[in-house]
Amino acid sequence: MASPVNVTVTGAAGQIGYALLFRIASGQLLGPDTPVNLKLLEIEPALKAAEGTALELTDCAFPLLHGIEITADLAEGFNGTNVALLVGARPRTKGMERADLLEANGGIFKPQGNAINDHAADDIKVLVVGNPANTNALIAQAAAPDVPKERFTAMTRLDQNRAYAQLANKLAVPVTAIKKLAIWGNHSPSMFPNLFHAEVNGQNAADAVDDMAWYENEYLPRVGKRGAEIIDARGASSAASAANAAIDHVYDWVNGTNGEWVSMAVPSDGSYGVPEGIISSFPVTTANGEYEIVQGLEINEFSQGKIDATVAELVGERDAVKDLGLV
Ligand code: NAD
Ligand code: LMR
Repeated sequence: MASPVNVTVTGAAGQIGYALLFRIASGQLLGPDTPVNLKLLEIEPALKAAEGTALELTDCAFPLLHGIEITADLAEGFNGTNVALLVGARPRTKGMERADLLEANGGIFKPQGNAINDHAADDIKVLVVGNPANTNALIAQAAAPDVPKERFTAMTRLDQNRAYAQLANKLAVPVTAIKKLAIWGNHSPSMFPNLFHAEVNGQNAADAVDDMAWYENEYLPRVGKRGAEIIDARGASSAASAANAAIDHVYDWVNGTNGEWVSMAVPSDGSYGVPEGIISSFPVTTANGEYEIVQGLEINEFSQGKIDATVAELVGERDAVKDLGLV
């Protein structure tokens, strides 16, 4: 059997952490042949709760779980880490301006980026889940100049999964009938789920829907605002579905997609006019532990307008954290 992979989860005592850790330990993150060492990184007041989760992890007697460490120390938490899931973040609270939110998260993701830079393994892969995910990833990346930039990614896989489920429901097909349905831009209501390159049972998805009014006025807001809909219904933000998407994101990054498209927010290389460097969602394929942005797609005017809007939002966030000296 392979040697254990070190997986760090920040915010391990939170609700996504609780939905995530057992699935990682059971082999769903990296595959059934890869043992894991889990590193649970929390702030001091939450360490006891993280210890409780560790007791339960132990009680599952997962054959692939080789070790559990719990710490509030960043150097320890990222020491030798191969996969970092940055989940813990500062949520927006009443009266908080966007700049305050970005600054508060800078206080979390900058030191975490520094610690990843100094202590993680050479093959470190980072997925940022904590919101605002794209820009938090940018902050961590900027604080880790020795780590290749492309190792910092943010999560739009939950948005992709939502987009698949809503389209499948509309067309009364199984989700497996859908391919190449990707999210572009920011993990925010401005995101763009692109039906023009998606396929349903081999047919173009926009043609299969054949209803631009539904696409624009129902589908896009439904997918884009699904996070708020969940918060309204549960009184808490999505947890199990977010953990599920994090598993999907990393599993596909590590194990390859065999030519299938998936959505990942990754540092732009300037493709499709998205300014180089911002962490924006694209359709990607993965192989051998690396991803590539799908190239050569023709973007129609409708899509270009939507992509421009969500990218402008990301540029605004980038500029705000630049003003704060974070990137
Ligand atoms: P939660 O409040 O239940 O848990 C967050 C945990 O993070 C807490 O245990 C807290 O102690 C910990 N934490 C705070 N600061 C930390 C730090 N500096 N280091 C380590 N741990 C720290 O929240 P949750 O429901 O688990 O959600 C976590 C984040 O994920 C939120 O920002 C949420 O908005 C985001 N989220 C993103 C997506 C997505 O699709 N990208 C989806 C759902 C939720
Ligand atoms: C989601 O998409 O479910 C979350 O990002 C919502 C949130 O604000 O935590």
